[in-house]
Amino acid sequence: MTYLKSIFNKKSIFWMVCAIIIWIVLLVELLVSLKNGNDEFTYSFASYEEHSDIPLDVSIVISKSWDDTEEGYHLIGAQYDGTVINKTGKEVRDWRLTITLPSDDCLIDSSWNGTYELNGRSLTVVPDEYVYIIEKDNLRSFGFILKSEKECASFKYEISGRHITYKEEYAIYWILILTTVVYAVTFIVYAVMQIKLEMRRRNDDEIIRQTMMSFVNSIDARDEYTKGHSVRVAEYSSMLAKELGFTEEEVRKIGYIALLHDCGKIIVSDTLLKKTGKLTAEERSQIQQHTVIGGKMLEDFTSLKGAREGALYHHEYFNGEGYPQGLKGEEIPLPARIICVADSFDAMNSDRCYRNHLGRERIINELIRNKCVQFDPVIADCMLKLIESGKISILE
Ligand SMILES: [Fe+2]
Repeated sequence: MTYLKSIFNKKSIFWMVCAIIIWIVLLVELLVSLKNGNDEFTYSFASYEEHSDIPLDVSIVISKSWDDTEEGYHLIGAQYDGTVINKTGKEVRDWRLTITLPSDDCLIDSSWNGTYELNGRSLTVVPDEYVYIIEKDNLRSFGFILKSEKECASFKYEISGRHITYKEEYAIYWILILTTVVYAVTFIVYAVMQIKLEMRRRNDDEIIRQTMMSFVNSIDARDEYTKGHSVRVAEYSSMLAKELGFTEEEVRKIGYIALLHDCGKIIVSDTLLKKTGKLTAEERSQIQQHTVIGGKMLEDFTSLKGAREGALYHHEYFNGEGYPQGLKGEEIPLPARIICVADSFDAMNSDRCYRNHLGRERIINELIRNKCVQFDPVIADCMLKLIESGKISILE
């Protein structure tokens, strides 16, 4: 699923949609060309020699003739051999030829390569199935034996049919094929690269997470009561960020920032950390210094934007009464405001050396009471929502 997400992100989907639109436009263009390519035609002419611009050369020659006088009725028999030469540059199909004979006293004796129908002076030739296609630059022949009073020296022709253009003859077809291949190859290369990147990112992520965990666990483990505190705060902060509508990447970053929020505690002595009695003003000030120290420690941790702010400002109050700088409201960086809620919730929901964890009602009341005091009200509401929905549970 994560791999699919890395392949189909907003940017890639945009380019894929653009590519598909271009592909569809090319396809439509090809279909339109194919439709227009199969156009019908009709050419009428008396003699091909006089109409050489017509791309279908129809001619009839008399190959032999004889006297066919019967019972005193004078008739001339003749064999008329015809050809149709296709010079259209395209294939011709379903052609049909109408020949206008010079007189209407003719009789068809026999014919070949088609069906012939004589109607007055009009002789229609419908080619047989095996000759109804004339390939580009090819010819078809036809012929008939005609009996008439005198030889027919000239004819008028009308030829009709359909021009056929095959898809392979269109440049757009090859452009479409090329585009499809380029798209497919690009997509495969892109997908493989993204999967490899995602695998590397996961590996890097795991290394970073484990390094941070080792570091923060070494701080939290100094006090039995705060063991696992940073990990839990990181978890709650991530959940809050998700609830606030952050992207997956932002949620992940907030988790890391929160994980490091108490790193400055490294300078607080064990005695002070574990002290159960009331803290003196000096001791309180020393503990509060963990924010400043944490901020300094993370100053150069620029690859995780917001890490310094998370550590430095997570004890600032929304009403401006927190420490170390007394920032107010939205002056406090958002990651720090999130950590503040998550940190306080975990403190209330954990046993400490000086008290047991608070009850459900008390925690909820504290979250409500401290809206706009300690907590950003929007984030406090998110925490209440997460508790209400059972996504974050309170100790019994
Ligand atoms: Fe802290």
